[in-house]
Amino acid sequence: MSEPASFLDAAWGKSTPHAPVWLMRQAGRYLPEYRELKERHGFWRMVRTPELAVEVTLQPIRRFPLDAAILFSDIMTPLPPMGVDIDFAPGPVLAEPVRTRSDVDRLRVPDAGELAPFVADAVRLLRSESPVPLIGFAGAPLTLATYLVQGTGTTEHADLRAWLAREPETAHALLDKLTEVTIRYLRTQVEAGAQAVQLFDSWAGVHDVAGYARFGLPYAHRVLDALAGTVPRIYLAVGSSHLYGRIATLPAEVVSVDWRRPLRDCRAELPGLALQGNLDPGLLLTTPELAVAGAHEVLRAGLGGAHIFNLGHGVLPGTDPDTVARLVDAVHEFPRTEGDQ
Ligand code: CP3
Repeated sequence: MSEPASFLDAAWGKSTPHAPVWLMRQAGRYLPEYRELKERHGFWRMVRTPELAVEVTLQPIRRFPLDAAILFSDIMTPLPPMGVDIDFAPGPVLAEPVRTRSDVDRLRVPDAGELAPFVADAVRLLRSESPVPLIGFAGAPLTLATYLVQGTGTTEHADLRAWLAREPETAHALLDKLTEVTIRYLRTQVEAGAQAVQLFDSWAGVHDVAGYARFGLPYAHRVLDALAGTVPRIYLAVGSSHLYGRIATLPAEVVSVDWRRPLRDCRAELPGLALQGNLDPGLLLTTPELAVAGAHEVLRAGLGGAHIFNLGHGVLPGTDPDTVARLVDAVHEFPRTEGDQ
């Protein structure tokens, strides 16, 4: 089994005897106990009620011997206090997209205390109830802007790229506000007791290197820098290996890598950083045997530096919880010895 401290050790860059494991979206629709609660309360009420958020956060921890818990919430949580009306269907849908300078000027930048008091309460409760370290999180400014400008996350993002090219000043004003809110929001989580933070830049990969350097990197940098000297910082960007040269310059301890390339290739481009990932979540829809074989490959490719085992993106609805159980055990049984110590 992995040691209790292994997640935080690996996040600080130490090579651990076994890879610690947690899964993005480990709480969610593939768990019947999650679906049952959501049926009764609805998504926003679960997010906004500390006792329910705590319960959902702990559901996967009770089922599987995971090495870290991630707060149950959403990257959209800090946006309603800015004046944005959001529903889930099941992805975020905005009542009114944010596109003009006056739309941006109308957005509020609430004080930390006003932003999400229920999140601070949930974090405090989790610190007394969770047997494993707690990861707080937020969306990165460019990824939040993606939803705000498009009104949903489901298009090819050409609209967003066109908007950035057409309205760079409005874009920078929006990203600046989102950066300030994200800093306040993450600091609140860390002050309440979150032991690591993950910044989700899920849609950064749809930009070319120049676009990311202009609209993504500087804002993610500011957010991560504001947390320097507190807890380990994990940065995630999906489909973004063309950006690794830039991502390597971010003030983070860990980069979360999607499933597209083996970890050993990514290490060369992300020197000195711990890696998190990167099993294809699609493999969890097959059989436990194929999922475990895939995990072994990921674990072998992850040797040679600190590694936190995870999926390349979130657990998919339709994943069998028994397959997750087999996967977690397989990770813990795999010794990290070859060429590593
Ligand atoms: O990982 C966890 O278990 C913690 C909870 C968590 C949720 N959303 C709960 C949720 C986390 C870390 C997120 C982050 C999030 N939310 C991201 C970044 C991660 C990524 O996937 O790239 C993004 C882009 C969102 C926006 C969002 N919220 C989408 C696209 C969706 C659609 C459904 C889905 O699961 O992808 C949501 C809704 C949402 N957020 C659900 C959950 C459990 C599903 C709600 C439901 O239908 O039950």
